[in-house]
Amino acid sequence: MSGKKILVTGGTGYIGSHTVVELFNAGYQPIIIDNFSNSSARIIDQIEAINGIRPEFVNLDLCDARLTSDFVSQHPDISGVIHFAAYKAVGESVEQPLKYYHNNLFSLINLLSAFSDKPVNFVFSSSCTVYGEPDQLPVTERAPVKKAESPYGNTKQIAEEILSEVAGTSKSLKVTALRYFNPVGAHHSALIGELPIGVPQNLVPFITQSAIGKRGPLIVHGNDYNTPDGSCIRDYIHVVDLAKAHVSALKFMENSDEGGYEVFNIGTGKGSTVLQVINTFETATGVKLEYKIGKRRPGDIEKIYGEVSKAKHDLGWNAELDLGEMMSSAWAWEKYIQQNPL
Ligand code: UD1
Repeated sequence: MSGKKILVTGGTGYIGSHTVVELFNAGYQPIIIDNFSNSSARIIDQIEAINGIRPEFVNLDLCDARLTSDFVSQHPDISGVIHFAAYKAVGESVEQPLKYYHNNLFSLINLLSAFSDKPVNFVFSSSCTVYGEPDQLPVTERAPVKKAESPYGNTKQIAEEILSEVAGTSKSLKVTALRYFNPVGAHHSALIGELPIGVPQNLVPFITQSAIGKRGPLIVHGNDYNTPDGSCIRDYIHVVDLAKAHVSALKFMENSDEGGYEVFNIGTGKGSTVLQVINTFETATGVKLEYKIGKRRPGDIEKIYGEVSKAKHDLGWNAELDLGEMMSSAWAWEKYIQQNPL
């Protein structure tokens, strides 16, 4: 296999697995590190089924500094890193903050230390959660970072600061942080998608599990917000578009002579309310969804959507798939997983 070798940490996770597929499609050679803390080893078979190539895989906990540095020494040909591996459950992070600070920050520090003297292009998984409730919409990358609502959100903010400082003093490290809006949907093959553990806290996996009969009716968390129909607004982005943004970020760094640190919003630039998402799900799939209006969920912001022209201009990337495609692909995946549990 030819092509530049790219380390994908958390490469069997939701966004990671879709990115491995897009790396293969773009001619790269991905190598996955994962410890399956929130994913299944079967995802490697699924990626192979999509691309016809089995990604190289190493089971390793990045919190182990020695193992991480040994791995990097044994793979001197890695030219890029896409770092997904992290815990991401907001509620759990409030209950167990140290678990989140320990895992999400030590893994990053160990990786950066292991690559410290090596030329590498580093893509970091950040989140629009760093903006909190923005003062202006659409929110731009220049908007102030607000105090994090959760330890999870704080790990993203601290990680961005660490990366910006380390990249600022390094001659060999280039960093692109991607601030994702709300990733949803699944690969069009329906062979990979989101695999939530337990009751999904996020909207779209709850919708598909409710529609297939695994859960009761969806509770819409509030309809008294200052939005056209009273439900919250988010910028939902198809996970395949999001995966492609990582490939664009790598190419951007490969083509730039300067080092440094850049941050990009990765969304569609369009906001949708919860009720619009429900309607689009019903139209795209022909399946009726049962739902009830409930109380506001603590910690939810009212509305957010991104200004995405910087990614378009600098990365040459923009989202192509619409909300209908997000819903139909998420539904196809839910039906697949019902028949073929991983
Ligand atoms: C959440 C996280 C965010 C993380 C993202 C990952 C919080 C505060 N933020 O974003 O940091 O990056 O997930 O995808 O948790 N909703 C319902 N009923 C439900 C579930 C959700 O009405 O059963 C509504 C929510 O109130 C919200 C919207 O759907 O308005 C989206 O919720 P969700 O999918 O959980 O994402 P976020 O909260 O935006």
